[in-house]
Amino acid sequence: APQVAAVAGQSVAVTLEPDVIPDRGDFLFPASESPLRAARIRTRLFWLRQEPLRVGESFKLRLATAEHQVTVAAIDSVVRLEDLTEQPAEEVPPEGFAEITLAVSETMLFDPFLPGTADGRGVLVDRNQQIVGGAPLMGVAESVAGRNAIHPTGSAVSLWDRAQAKGHRGGVFWMTGLPGAGKSTLARAAENRLFARGIDVSVLDGDTLRAGLCSDLGFSDADRRENVRRAAAVARILAESGQVVIVALISPTVADRELARQIVGEGFHEIFIDTPQATCEQRDPKGLYAAARAGKIEGFTGIDAPYEAPANPALRLETAERTSDETAVKLATFISDAIRIDSAADRQRS
Ligand code: ADX
Repeated sequence: APQVAAVAGQSVAVTLEPDVIPDRGDFLFPASESPLRAARIRTRLFWLRQEPLRVGESFKLRLATAEHQVTVAAIDSVVRLEDLTEQPAEEVPPEGFAEITLAVSETMLFDPFLPGTADGRGVLVDRNQQIVGGAPLMGVAESVAGRNAIHPTGSAVSLWDRAQAKGHRGGVFWMTGLPGAGKSTLARAAENRLFARGIDVSVLDGDTLRAGLCSDLGFSDADRRENVRRAAAVARILAESGQVVIVALISPTVADRELARQIVGEGFHEIFIDTPQATCEQRDPKGLYAAARAGKIEGFTGIDAPYEAPANPALRLETAERTSDETAVKLATFISDAIRIDSAADRQRS
């Protein structure tokens, strides 16, 4: 082919043979100067959010006009600002600098970052189309085996499109409280009411999960934490598909509920079913308080295992003085308010 040159600012016409249809963001390059191709990419991240970044979070990587689904596969090091040294770390602190590895669902082409040019200037965009980080692409990350070789995929269907289709947003409503506080009863009553209004809603209930997904777990601190982790991971998947998820788990510690909040991310609402222990024990719907008092159950929450009440729940429901109907209405109202499509704000984000 004849050698021709064009520079920025000029218009050029290109005839492709064979007649392929390029996608937005595709590369056109001389055969001798191919860009890099990888499914794992090292990036030098500057993180813009006020919350820490952890492994497993998914984003859209915007690279010029191309967009790719990426997941944080590893946090390789974090820059300590006091002395600019790179330290290993579990998370990137709010507004921190770090070297991280991004995993792409399929291999992608890129030019590595070259200061002063547009090459390799990746930008991370979250589910709400907010820019959350600058991610210059430094190079191909070493391929690794096992756990690190997984390539999670993210949905290309946006939350906004899902909300439009369903008429409401998704969300996770995490109910915590003592055994016998009324979590399951209220969750099911609210589920009924919301479903009757056409809302796509489901309940993840502790006892129910423990009959299946979590049947291998007991009630040690570690098992309860794993129980919370699994419920939160499932809740997130459902919420990302646009559903309203009501979780009813004792989830007795502040730390476990914080873990749930981190796993779920945006759209997490903590609801405290605030029933005095004396009332729970009086109700004792499953006879478990009596059994625990009699020494037949060890480590029963409220008796010989701790329950830490949330200090600042998004909603507190006191069930002792009210009928369960009244409380269920309150809960259903709170949920339907929280999932309403707020057109102006939502559309702007999408
Ligand atoms: S959590 O602590 O891991 O969040 P979860 O809500 O799943 O608990 O399960 C609580 C249910 O398990 C209770 O409603 C009760 O029926 C049953 N259970 C059995 N043993 C215990 C125990 N030691 N402590 C609390 N609940 C128990």
